[in-house]
Amino acid sequence: MNIIEIINKKRLKQTLTDDEIKYVIDNYLSGEIKDYQMSSLLMAILLNDMTNEEIYSLTKYMAESGDKLDLSSLGDNVVDKHSTGGVGDKTTLIIAPIVASCGVKVAKMSGRGLGHTGGTIDKLESIPGFTVNLTEEDFLNQVNEIGVAITSQTENIAIADKKIYALRDVTGTVESIPLIASSIMSKKIALGAKKLVLDVKVGNGALIKNIDDAKRLSNLMIDIGKHNNIEVICVLTNMNIPLGNNIGNSLEVEEAIDILKNHKLGSLRDLCIELSSHMVSLGLKITYEEAKERVLNNLDNGEAYNKFVELVTKQHGDINNLPKATGKYEIKSMTKGYLIDIDAYKLGILSMNLGAGRKNKEDKIDYSAGIIVKKNINDYINEGDVIMTLYTNKEITEIDNTIFKISDKKIEDNKLIYEIIK
Ligand code: URA
Repeated sequence: MNIIEIINKKRLKQTLTDDEIKYVIDNYLSGEIKDYQMSSLLMAILLNDMTNEEIYSLTKYMAESGDKLDLSSLGDNVVDKHSTGGVGDKTTLIIAPIVASCGVKVAKMSGRGLGHTGGTIDKLESIPGFTVNLTEEDFLNQVNEIGVAITSQTENIAIADKKIYALRDVTGTVESIPLIASSIMSKKIALGAKKLVLDVKVGNGALIKNIDDAKRLSNLMIDIGKHNNIEVICVLTNMNIPLGNNIGNSLEVEEAIDILKNHKLGSLRDLCIELSSHMVSLGLKITYEEAKERVLNNLDNGEAYNKFVELVTKQHGDINNLPKATGKYEIKSMTKGYLIDIDAYKLGILSMNLGAGRKNKEDKIDYSAGIIVKKNINDYINEGDVIMTLYTNKEITEIDNTIFKISDKKIEDNKLIYEIIK
């Protein structure tokens, strides 16, 4: 077998065998297949697609390329969730305790942020004392004891996917549906998921730009799930609707607390309720409607917030002493009209520049830095209204004035959930 033949086969739209795909993964990991050869194959895949059988093989060998987590000691009432990617996604902080408070186990391994995106682990680390490096044994014991644990993902999960993803990122091959589906599902298989709710983001700023692609990706991930004995529900959501108002680590923890205490309404809460309800329905094998009733009850009666406090306390965090930035700057609108768009990407970059994120992997984060957006989509804004507040310990220099779009008409398409596919 050789890589040139395999590249040529894909270029000619032929189907690769299971052995050929195994050869590619094994030899790319060992360094035998070079980055330039792998890039060429990835581009041929992007252009010429893959059959389901090819995708199953690719997913399998990527899942097997690193460590695997065995969650069988937790029973079958464990549900995982994952988002296909977005800025300021703080849903895990809210959903994990809600779902656990309903009696479904959540064993969550999360990552750190880079560039304009934030990571759940950084947000949790902004809580003084919070431990994010649980051993596998402590992680599983904690889930058995209190129903929820969140820890940082080991470096060794699906290492072939990690290497390929880094290459896709710099070769224009991220946006291939078979590659996205196999990348996400290989990690979920390696992490031991048996029941999974996927938040598939659709929109300009997302990896998936239109509903048809989102449907194909969802159906593919459901098929990969079936092939691997994982029950999958996909929730197709509008990425163009900002989720909540706070960006930056401790600010996002504060917002999560507000929602868990049932003090805050809006799109972030609505999405968390939707995803939690599907998770509870999968975990407890009850209808979506019954699950949603339990979720709403637990937000109302304080059980969801109590579970969050239990989680934080168990992992040695102190939520009463969240860090606060010394500098606070109010940014005012220079025009009037309806707020019709907030550029999440640009907000992510601004937040990173205020100190809340990393430009490079090794950069240190200022956990107190970030942004609170004071207005929501379709709010009317007058000249001079405060549109966002910046929190930072740095000097403020220039602010991008194209983050917000203001118009004399409201927008019509502000639907949060497009479709559910199971
Ligand atoms: N998220 C992943 O983990 N992989 C992709 O390919 C895209 C989004």
